[in-house]
Amino acid sequence: QIIKLEDYLPADFVIHQVDMTFDLRDGHADVLTRLVMQRREGVAAEAPLELDGDELSLTSLALNGTPVSPQNYTVAPDSLKIDDLPAQDQFTLEIGTRLHPEQNTKLMGLYRSNGIWCTQCEAQGFRRITYFLDRPDVLATYKVRLEADKAAAPVLLANGNPVASGDLPNGRHFAEWIDPHLKPSYLFAIVGGRLDVLKDSLTTISGRHVELAIYTEPGLAERATYAMDALKRSMWWDERRFGREYDLDVFNIVAISDFNMGAMENKGLNVFNHKYVLLDSETATDADYAGVETVIAHEYFHNWTGNRITCRDWFQLCLKEGLTVYRDQEFSSDERSRPVKRISCVHTLKANQFPEDQGPLQHPVRPTTYREINNFYTATVYDKGSELVRMLATILGEDKFRAGMDLYFERHDGDAATIEDFIACFAQTANMDLSQFALWYNQAGTPRLTVSQSYDAKAGTLTLNLQQQLDKGAAGTGTLPMHIPVRFGLVGANGQDIAAEAASDDARVSGDTIHLTTASATIVFTGLNQRPLLSILRDFSAPVQLQYEESEADRLALARLDPDAYGRWRALTDLVGDSLADAARQWAKSGPQTVSDTVLGAIVEAADDTSLEPALRAQMCSLPGETEIARLVAEDVNPEIIHTLRLQTLARLGMLGGETFRSLRAELAEPAGEFSASAASAGRRALRNCLLAPLSAAAGRPDDAAKQYAQATNMSDRMAALTVLVHQFPQELVSQDALTDFYNRFESDPLVLDKWFALQAASPNADTLERVEALLHHEKFKLANPNRARAVIGGLAGANPSVFHRADGAGYRWVCGVLLQLDSLNPQTAARMATAFRSWRSMNPALRQQAEAALRQLAASENLSRDLRDIVERTLK
Ligand code: ARG
Ligand code: ZN
Repeated sequence: QIIKLEDYLPADFVIHQVDMTFDLRDGHADVLTRLVMQRREGVAAEAPLELDGDELSLTSLALNGTPVSPQNYTVAPDSLKIDDLPAQDQFTLEIGTRLHPEQNTKLMGLYRSNGIWCTQCEAQGFRRITYFLDRPDVLATYKVRLEADKAAAPVLLANGNPVASGDLPNGRHFAEWIDPHLKPSYLFAIVGGRLDVLKDSLTTISGRHVELAIYTEPGLAERATYAMDALKRSMWWDERRFGREYDLDVFNIVAISDFNMGAMENKGLNVFNHKYVLLDSETATDADYAGVETVIAHEYFHNWTGNRITCRDWFQLCLKEGLTVYRDQEFSSDERSRPVKRISCVHTLKANQFPEDQGPLQHPVRPTTYREINNFYTATVYDKGSELVRMLATILGEDKFRAGMDLYFERHDGDAATIEDFIACFAQTANMDLSQFALWYNQAGTPRLTVSQSYDAKAGTLTLNLQQQLDKGAAGTGTLPMHIPVRFGLVGANGQDIAAEAASDDARVSGDTIHLTTASATIVFTGLNQRPLLSILRDFSAPVQLQYEESEADRLALARLDPDAYGRWRALTDLVGDSLADAARQWAKSGPQTVSDTVLGAIVEAADDTSLEPALRAQMCSLPGETEIARLVAEDVNPEIIHTLRLQTLARLGMLGGETFRSLRAELAEPAGEFSASAASAGRRALRNCLLAPLSAAAGRPDDAAKQYAQATNMSDRMAALTVLVHQFPQELVSQDALTDFYNRFESDPLVLDKWFALQAASPNADTLERVEALLHHEKFKLANPNRARAVIGGLAGANPSVFHRADGAGYRWVCGVLLQLDSLNPQTAARMATAFRSWRSMNPALRQQAEAALRQLAASENLSRDLRDIVERTLK
């Protein structure tokens, strides 16, 4: 049951046209699908048609209008095989299926969320609606007719443009939609229900009028205002930046409460987890705003990178996902602050993708095998996939990169394409051999980039040596040297880049980029009259692990002087991160340690540097999280020590920063009046709020946080305060009161309630497990709702290392127990949550033993889904 890339073959049959009728009723839905099909040229005349299904029940089957006789077909819930089909001629196949959307807790295929009918078909959900060639290289045009009770579903939506609607007898009505664009089945969608709508419109650059609509559950449409604004900005941006225009008369978005992922780019009908649509300042944090903007843009950008040009097979997932993430990151960089966005992406990549790439779940950006494709919607495919596109842009330069994109759009519009197709476009426009670069798609793992330098004052030269090394990891893929673009700067004592002549026998240096293509290269810079500071891997120009013996003095100087904002952040973050990791390692050997005042002083200085934008200062002065420190410690991790060390460091930082931090907080206090969600306002809130934790830790009192909580006028300030209260002062009455107040305020708001659940699950206290167990029995807890399940399980397993990795193994066992329950409802979400175990081998021996025992016990359960079993078995291997 292992699917392999090398086994790819096109389907034996083509589907020209798909016509579907949905009869939606309480309790069941009847679907009639009419396929206009043909045997593909060259396929043997006796080859049967084999259609995919998943938990389906067939109600009728006809060929060219005549029922197919039972000896000519074999049906099972997961397949329909038909013999004796025409050798050459086009034929129509009519397939009836009956579905039970209310019972569909997997949330794949057609299901009901709070009474709303909706679908999720990527990757293989369409086969839960009808028997089909459910693979991305089978492209067809679709016509859809929906019928439902007018009262239950006054709104009926499908892909494409609306063409007809009207009343039917018995209080029923219908709507018909035609999608004129070729699409694979995974982009199919319908929605029906009682929905409110926020409408707008836009005229594209060539003059097409597009009606825009965002549908929500009743009473919530106003909260889609920011999402609508983000949608329009995304549409304009794609025209300007990539010359891509929208191609239908309507663009619809629907916000749904029960959704496995973030959102889905169905053609003309994006379906979203409501978390990425609904916002206002009282209920959403600034991070939520940024998330909505990103996801709205991401799904919209898929219209070209994903929909117009789709993937030949699921191994090519990064073709659409990596590229679309790159596009949404570029959008946010243009709309907000480029360095701030870049830093946050690098931070996310290191937190999510690096552990994946360096652990048992490792796989190349383009995998070559899978057991369950849903388990490959990963940080590697998405985020490292985006880094590869970014490197391509760095290697080619902006103009050639854009020319390659233009060629890709022109050549492959309407295709189901591959990574090779994509790369060939850039090789052609840049007239470059990109075969070495292409290794990045096939070789898993994070290469180490080792840097050393020596300065010769007499000769006025700086000699730089760069080495790359890739170890074989769990994926077992190749380890050849790759093309690594290394951006750099030589920084002078005046804080400006020095232009120096570069010469090398084995690397090409072009502008600010060293193109490392060999295992090792030496570059000599000449004409220097001072020892420059080396600002290396600027902008994180390649997804590598930097190994650079850089002195504390150089890091301190770069943190202050680098004219490149990313470079300043990089130097300071590496300094702080390494200091904490060293202290944690040492602590495990010989007892309590501290981080030096010099290092903490640099943080205080960065916080107070008004030449930098506040959002960047907030990034520079936030201590790395416990999971991040654990990643840097790398082996024999003791989460308990890391937790204590971090808390003590926070207190010492607050002590040292005291006066400075307090006056900064006063200066940054929001002037009364209108709330602004702008990046600049959000940045000021971020800086002000990140100083609250160290100040409170230093004071050892919850007063400041309690005051901020009571006075908060927006969710960012409120959450920041509540987090300090609950995580740093769990025993104080004010903290418990604030939690209760928060609940009472937002009890009826599921998205805010998720924050309430998650915050408690992430609380690093001795009684957290007992509290979390109680949360599972809370009246508002619903395991079948993915957001709620993620809030509690993810809050503990993903955001609470000292409790998840409890020495007695109780955290591991608790998580495995809940995963087993969740798996019987929603395998996809259970499998996703189980990836929290991916770094178990880096824990200390006692914890490793506990984790392994818990995982083995889970693996021994008989009824594990394919999704969860795949993750658990790979994690243990
Ligand atoms: N294509 C969607 C997006 O990234 C994600 C859908 C993933 N769905 C799934 N069942 N794995 O925008
Ligand atoms: Zn996507």
